[in-house]
Amino acid sequence: MSAVGTERRTIRVTVNGAVYERDVEARLLLSDFLRHELGLTGTHVGCEHGVCGACTVLLDGEPVRSCLLFAVQVDGHAIETVEGLAPRDGELHPLQRAFWEKHGLQCGYCTPGMLMVLKAFLAEHPDPTEEEIREAISGNLCRCTGYQNIVEAARYAAQLLRSS
Ligand code: FES
Ligand code: FES
Repeated sequence: MSAVGTERRTIRVTVNGAVYERDVEARLLLSDFLRHELGLTGTHVGCEHGVCGACTVLLDGEPVRSCLLFAVQVDGHAIETVEGLAPRDGELHPLQRAFWEKHGLQCGYCTPGMLMVLKAFLAEHPDPTEEEIREAISGNLCRCTGYQNIVEAARYAAQLLRSS
């Protein structure tokens, strides 16, 4: 029997449409799997305690905090990270364009988490009120912006998505 914390498992995960099979330690966090095993460093890690929302990714379309999941827990599932947003190199997803045009970021540390939580939210709320947007991002902390431009960017992204 292997020592606690060193047990390994082979997992097969779809990330941004590509299938990856990796042998990982059972205790490896999903955030570390994405960043260190797959090199997808767009997913940021802030608190590592489920508080800040910076590490948010989509698990089968639903926002989750990747610092609160083990990689083995997503075996057989689909993950989407910020790297999967843009339709192709050199283009921006409407959410990215909206954050860019409405100055929805400063240091950018919270931005990947904001984008992913908003992607799931706007899919279900195509024409949200400001209050609904504020509620949707209430679990994502930003130290820089005061949130106003993030809310404006989310509203503009909703408009772009409705007209696309
Ligand atoms: S790093 Fe995961 S919630 Fe803060
Ligand atoms: S833009 Fe700096 S933490 Fe949000």
